[in-house]
Amino acid sequence: MILVMIKKINLSILIIFLLLGTFWAFRIFTKKNTIVSNNSKVTTPDNSNYTPNNTDKFNKKMYSITEPTSLWFVANKHYSLPITYTPNDLIVPSVPLRLASSEQQMHLRTVLQTDLINLFNDAKTTGLQLQLGSGFRSATYQKTLYDGYVNTQGITEADRSSARPGHSEHQTGLALDFTRIDTKCHLDACLADLPEGKWLADNAYKYGFILRYTSDKEQVTGYMFEPWHYRYVGHELALEMHNTGIKTLEEFFDLGPATDYLK
Ligand code: DAL
Ligand code: ZN
Repeated sequence: MILVMIKKINLSILIIFLLLGTFWAFRIFTKKNTIVSNNSKVTTPDNSNYTPNNTDKFNKKMYSITEPTSLWFVANKHYSLPITYTPNDLIVPSVPLRLASSEQQMHLRTVLQTDLINLFNDAKTTGLQLQLGSGFRSATYQKTLYDGYVNTQGITEADRSSARPGHSEHQTGLALDFTRIDTKCHLDACLADLPEGKWLADNAYKYGFILRYTSDKEQVTGYMFEPWHYRYVGHELALEMHNTGIKTLEEFFDLGPATDYLK
């Protein structure tokens, strides 16, 4: 009887030890898994919030797009300037000029002068020969130019290359046409294939300028390719457009295509 009791107690102790052993083994196993799990959390980069070309973080309302003096003013076939608007801070920039400094077209706004000088200096250092072809244009002068194109090419072609008065961003004093000092490919698409056109396309954004009428966006801007026409928008926007690959102001600001004038 006593022997049977001792055997039962031994069996109970054995069972208890077996249960405890299983429990400890389970604890060690799960603890190891937790460490592995924690380690993988530490070593795996958390990219959940990273989206390349995320324009949400860029403040698109930093400057007005409807105030003519604003760096981001959008002039196109839908958005125009008051016909009498003239910037009040026009200067003759200290860069090579195609025409006499007294010509209105050789004037640009003060705000872009430093960046423009830096651009010209760096282009020259690279061995390029650039000059200012055309800068500020009043609505009156724009009308003379536009009417000339209509007379020689007809309205349809004129509207592809020249803005009607009040619709040209040259009137903002923030846009300019670059040309070579020898005027090779002056106002001609072949400028894009010359070192000057290529360098401008690759580098202008570093100075706050954007190529405004690219070869693939006539359906958005309403204008044919103009590898000579650059618009100063400031460093933030030029860099953001470069980084995101958005080529037009119309697309960047979700304005819709401005292919034709509103009736
Ligand atoms: N050539 C550009 C579109 C202008 O006339 O402003
Ligand atoms: Zn132009």
